[in-house]
Amino acid sequence: MSVQTLNLPNIIIPEHPQWPVLSDQEKRHIKGRIAKKLKDQNAVLVAHYYTDPDLQALAEESGGCVADSLEMARFGAAQEAETLVVCGVRFMGETSKILNPEKRVIMPDLAATCSLDEGCPADLFSAFCDDHPDHTVVVYANTSAEVKARSDWVVTSGIALPIVKHLAEQGKKILWGPDRHLGSYVARVTGAEMLMWPGSCVVHEEFKAVALERIRRLHPEAAVLVHPESPENVIQQADVIGSTTALIRAVSDMDNKEFIVATDGGIFYKMQQMAPDKVLIEAPTAGEGATCVSCAHCPWMGMNALQNLEQVLDSGENEIMIDPAIREQAVIPIQRMLDFAAQHEIGMKDKGNA
Ligand code: 13P
Ligand code: SF4
Repeated sequence: MSVQTLNLPNIIIPEHPQWPVLSDQEKRHIKGRIAKKLKDQNAVLVAHYYTDPDLQALAEESGGCVADSLEMARFGAAQEAETLVVCGVRFMGETSKILNPEKRVIMPDLAATCSLDEGCPADLFSAFCDDHPDHTVVVYANTSAEVKARSDWVVTSGIALPIVKHLAEQGKKILWGPDRHLGSYVARVTGAEMLMWPGSCVVHEEFKAVALERIRRLHPEAAVLVHPESPENVIQQADVIGSTTALIRAVSDMDNKEFIVATDGGIFYKMQQMAPDKVLIEAPTAGEGATCVSCAHCPWMGMNALQNLEQVLDSGENEIMIDPAIREQAVIPIQRMLDFAAQHEIGMKDKGNA
């Protein structure tokens, strides 16, 4: 089976959810109620940087964490809490459950998926791997538990480069899935021989190189920060390419006053918090000939809100369940990644700081 003959599903991109606007007072009340419910249920909130700023703030205020996907995976295991409430997309909840099978893992909306996960069905991916048995299978964390179970290594954007470099140094050929942009970037940097699954992130794929060039001319002093799920011609214009954590760090560490940011707009909350004096400019998703669908805002991340977070704490619904046989296989490549991260001190950070 070759990449060209793969019959991949059409991905249906949902409308960005429109949540009722809450007044400051209503927000304070709902946040107070949620914080109490978390405490009563011995639960902790784990949120991604792309989620609504109110959720990120609540996670920090209530002793949870706001993080990238590598740190989200690591955080749960270090908690005494019996329940992990994951605000993010489904693969993040699944990874938490795989690593913490004894804990209850719930999410505000189990339909919060990811175009990379949707575009990489386990049966097709597995058949593709079977056809290339001489390759080491490295999958991005943005995949289902079943796809992870078929892999040798799981990586996040924060650790993909050193792991692939390590494998390439051992002369391994790599079958990479599912994000072709991240995969191509990793192949360019490491020189690894990589067979690529043709997936992409519908949010990052919309950043436009020509319009970005124009904005850079208007802000010649600005540093350009790009998440590596973006297309190559956007990555080529970056001063910093990295995980959400790396991009947030760049805003506080670099001397520049202005930053053009090519990733989901949810990240601006943390960037602004870490460096309130810096000016943040959204990288363009529109421009000549552009058809902006997600407009730098992941519609699945948008399915997390204070309202359905409170509902799920009341109902106890939306628990993540993983087939024990799949879990047993999937935990191996995830743990391999975490062991590698610990050994090389990658992505270690203080809680709440990028
Ligand atoms: P990070 O691991 O960099 O947070 O990325 C997760 C993600 O889904 C980016 O689109
Ligand atoms: Fe998936 Fe892209 Fe959304 Fe990240 S931003 S969760 S990669 S669809």
